[in-house]
Amino acid sequence: MSLYRLIYSSYGIPDLGYHDLKDIMEKSEKNNQSDGITGLLCYGDSIFLQILEGDRTIISQTYHRIALDQRHHTPELIECVPIESRLFGIWSMKAVTLSDLNSEEVRNLILKYSASITLQPHTMTSQQCLNFMQALVKLYEKASSF
Ligand SMILES: Cc1cc2nc3c(=O)[nH]c(=O)nc-3n(C[C@H](O)[C@H](O)[C@H](O)COP(=O)(O)O)c2cc1C
Repeated sequence: MSLYRLIYSSYGIPDLGYHDLKDIMEKSEKNNQSDGITGLLCYGDSIFLQILEGDRTIISQTYHRIALDQRHHTPELIECVPIESRLFGIWSMKAVTLSDLNSEEVRNLILKYSASITLQPHTMTSQQCLNFMQALVKLYEKASSF
């Protein structure tokens, strides 16, 4: 068993709704918990950005299953690398929707880690995606503590 991190981005379908996101979250939490996968799923500007941490074979199988999901399209693999430890260890999968957070703080984060004013992961390096997602966790935790 080797511990790996996989990052990808994709485009949500135009009529993606709250119930789709809820279903994705529920399935992800259930499946990932039993598969030993942790990570974060971010959705905003019609884009998904997801990090999966876990056994290489299992995250690879999970990625291929996700890629076939009709609720998004054009997945782009950003990185799949060995890691020493998990960064998102407390979450089997948490979905953070950018519109639920303070819009100015989100835009500042996007500006900090990319050359764009909207979330465009395909223009970001894997390290920028990782930094952005870690900073997003902090914003999310700050928002949830109120
Ligand atoms: C953007 C996106 C992210 C997803 N992330 C996960 C995930 O982390 N884990 C997972 O099991 N399913 C995830 N899914 C759902 C899978 O595509 C699939 O619907 C689900 O794994 C099927 O689960 P089931 O066989 O238990 O019904 C995701 C779907 C989308 C569109």
